[in-house]
Amino acid sequence: MAAILQEEAIQATNDDATSCKLAAVSLGYWEDPYVSYFIRSPTRKPPEINRGYYARVKGVESLINKFIKKVGNNCQIINLGAGFDTLFWRLQDTGHSVANFIELDFPAVTSKKCICIQKNKNLFNRLKAGEDAAAGCTGADLHGTGYHLLGVDLQSVDRLLEKLDQCGVQDGLPTLLLAECVLVYMRGEEVHRLLSCLARRFRAALFVSYEQVNMNDRFGDMMLTNLRARSCHLPSVAACRDLDSQRQRFLQAGWDGAKAWDMVEVYHSLTSSERRRIERLEFLDEQELLMQLLQHYCIAVAWKSDLFADVSIAD
Ligand SMILES: C[S@@+](CC[C@H](N)C(=O)[O-])C[C@H]1O[C@@H](n2cnc3c(N)ncnc32)[C@H](O)[C@@H]1O
Repeated sequence: MAAILQEEAIQATNDDATSCKLAAVSLGYWEDPYVSYFIRSPTRKPPEINRGYYARVKGVESLINKFIKKVGNNCQIINLGAGFDTLFWRLQDTGHSVANFIELDFPAVTSKKCICIQKNKNLFNRLKAGEDAAAGCTGADLHGTGYHLLGVDLQSVDRLLEKLDQCGVQDGLPTLLLAECVLVYMRGEEVHRLLSCLARRFRAALFVSYEQVNMNDRFGDMMLTNLRARSCHLPSVAACRDLDSQRQRFLQAGWDGAKAWDMVEVYHSLTSSERRRIERLEFLDEQELLMQLLQHYCIAVAWKSDLFADVSIAD
């Protein structure tokens, strides 16, 4: 019973993330014409939350762009715990149609995403799947040409690898793996198994992870208490102690190298004109609160193959 409640609470974090993204998009922080298909109306969020999401979306986006610039479109992107993320459609808008794009989440989440995609032509028609996609939708999974949405618990690594095989994932193709606020909800030993399997599986890969960091202070305690009050526990919070623990998790799992930046650094890596633009969108009374928030999240990257060893958050 407790495990079911915990799983539901974890899945609900996707609703929070989607709601925060829609709130920021509605105020003009960044453009995403697709997010509103997954959640009805925006709920106002405090300016520091909107700015934090902006830094997260732009930081991750800049690493994705660098990856594609390096390897071209003949690559695969695997989004672990993708929730209602709209990257597949946003990338197409920028002229990038990668060879294979795979999204994974719990079946309870992917089945809702399947319904939204099937209901909205602007999403569905872009899968280039026509009738095949309708036939291939089994409730929790949806298969298009070069797009696969798969319902699976990431802690069942064997099942996950089986599903990736079924979608034509190739070991030799450059691969971008994404996990935004996902690994922290899994048990440490399961994360290790997952990261180790992925490190063995791909010859040239870049892993981009966004999650909590510097959690061993009072602000971190407060974040944990707030999450616990919503029945949401963070079994892998030990890996979020500092930037080094974030890196070590990958190195211990067999990745060739790893780097991590806290979100203060990511925020300051944005161009000054972009920062000025978003800072004019809303008045922020509590700069201190924004800085505290940014200090408690980070982007970590890990790579297989020296091709990605020079990856950097700065331009
Ligand atoms: C905070 S949400 C983030 C969603 C998306 N990555 C984003 O940035 O908007 C975390 C997501 O990870 C998924 N997740 C967490 N643990 C998982 C697991 N063991 N297997 C599959 N999905 C998982 C949740 O269901 C949820 O959709």
